[in-house]
Amino acid sequence: MTSILILNGPNLNLLGTRQPEVYGTTTLRYIEALCQKKASELQVSMEMRQSNHEGVLIDWIHDARGVFDGIIINAGAYTHTSIALMDAISSVEIPTLELHLSNIHEREDFRRLSYIGKVAFDLVMGHGADGYPMALERMVLYLEKH
Ligand code: DQA
Repeated sequence: MTSILILNGPNLNLLGTRQPEVYGTTTLRYIEALCQKKASELQVSMEMRQSNHEGVLIDWIHDARGVFDGIIINAGAYTHTSIALMDAISSVEIPTLELHLSNIHEREDFRRLSYIGKVAFDLVMGHGADGYPMALERMVLYLEKH
């Protein structure tokens, strides 16, 4: 069975209460439930994780080799700073999709640069919590074709 890892970076554990005007009121736990439902519809398995620590995210990417067929990552602010996360994704050669709740192209200038975007095959952003199941669909389609 196709298996997909969904990674969430810093501050995303606070979803639900964190700047609801930007990120909505849905909690990460609820998003996980949405993703489990979508995964079972798509007949794939998925696991969702969150960490506030760059090195932990990097370790999870490394450990995904041979275990997961695709990675969906909302790297939070590390999106805009982390060459190390970008290198980890390149190193494992697992198809990776970049995900954001907000539209990072319509916010502050410093959010326009995405290191994740340089190594991801696709980008889903600006759909809030709905972007997560959407990203799963896009990932499954991609994996079917490649
Ligand atoms: C985010 C966008 C990032 O710029 C920000 O630092 C986040 C969340 C999003 O999902 O919209 O933490 O990745």
